[in-house]
Amino acid sequence: MKLVDKINQLRKEKNAIILAHFYQTSDIQDIADFVGDSLALAQKAKESNAAIIVFAGVHFMAETAKALNPNSKVLLPDLEAGCSLAESAPADKFKEFMKNYPDHKVISYINCTAELKTMTDVVCTSSNAVQIVNSFPKDQKIVFGPDKNLGSYINKISGRDMVLWNGTCEVHDILEAEKVVELKIANPDAPLVAHPECAPQVLELADYVGSTSGILTYAQNSDAKKIIVATESGILHQMQKNSPDKQFIIVPSDETCSCNDCPYMKMITMEKIYHCLLNESNEILLDEEIIKQSLLPINRMLEISKKHKII
Ligand code: 13P
Ligand code: SF4
Repeated sequence: MKLVDKINQLRKEKNAIILAHFYQTSDIQDIADFVGDSLALAQKAKESNAAIIVFAGVHFMAETAKALNPNSKVLLPDLEAGCSLAESAPADKFKEFMKNYPDHKVISYINCTAELKTMTDVVCTSSNAVQIVNSFPKDQKIVFGPDKNLGSYINKISGRDMVLWNGTCEVHDILEAEKVVELKIANPDAPLVAHPECAPQVLELADYVGSTSGILTYAQNSDAKKIIVATESGILHQMQKNSPDKQFIIVPSDETCSCNDCPYMKMITMEKIYHCLLNESNEILLDEEIIKQSLLPINRMLEISKKHKII
């Protein structure tokens, strides 16, 4: 039996669903019950009735799914699939940092641990960060973390002066403005789309800055025949599916390939999905108190997103 058939049989038998992020490999995106960005995946996890959620993504995403749906068994096919942003902000260091800002509210990017979320007023993703920040009065002092690039981009467009935690995404932050300029010169009619985790010098050159879903919508609706893409390569699969007649040029992370892969996202494979579903292994287990405390800011984010009809 082919691996994909074995996975299909098991998910039917066990009432399991597979949720996948757009940065997963194309074979995984194609077998998933749902593919989305981090906000859409959290929304899907919350409304799921499945007994098992296999999360084809990274650890903080699976933790969020578990907090939102504690009665489901949430499995992460490789428990080592982390995230440089989440790792940049250990809860104890963040707690120490916050002692300097006792009158500040905390907005945390969803790319952080569940423990850090318990110290947060509202969570946000790159789809709703502007609306979340603007839900606070203009004079409210705010600490934003862990992504300093997203934080400084929001400061710029909202006219705020949020205090930023010094974390970055190792996949987006290394994309170089010089490389982008080279690609723009070689492809003068191609707009540049960028994820807000990129460095400010790259974002300044972008025609569109947005979340993974926002980038996909922009690319689909654009009249341009070529688009330069500053984010993770996995997104190309859906872009090409949505617009087979367009050419997408990924900004490479180095000279050795025309790709830019997140090493954590790419730890998930079809084989690992099969094995964790078969053995019901690699379960995400969260302390009840952590679930309770991290759910408050996650649910605030979902309420604000609903109000602004952001999916
Ligand atoms: P999205 O919220 O756009 O899915 O981004 C998640 C992420 O990890 C980007 O690197
Ligand atoms: Fe984390 Fe960056 Fe990978 Fe997204 S792309 S999961 S932010 S390391």
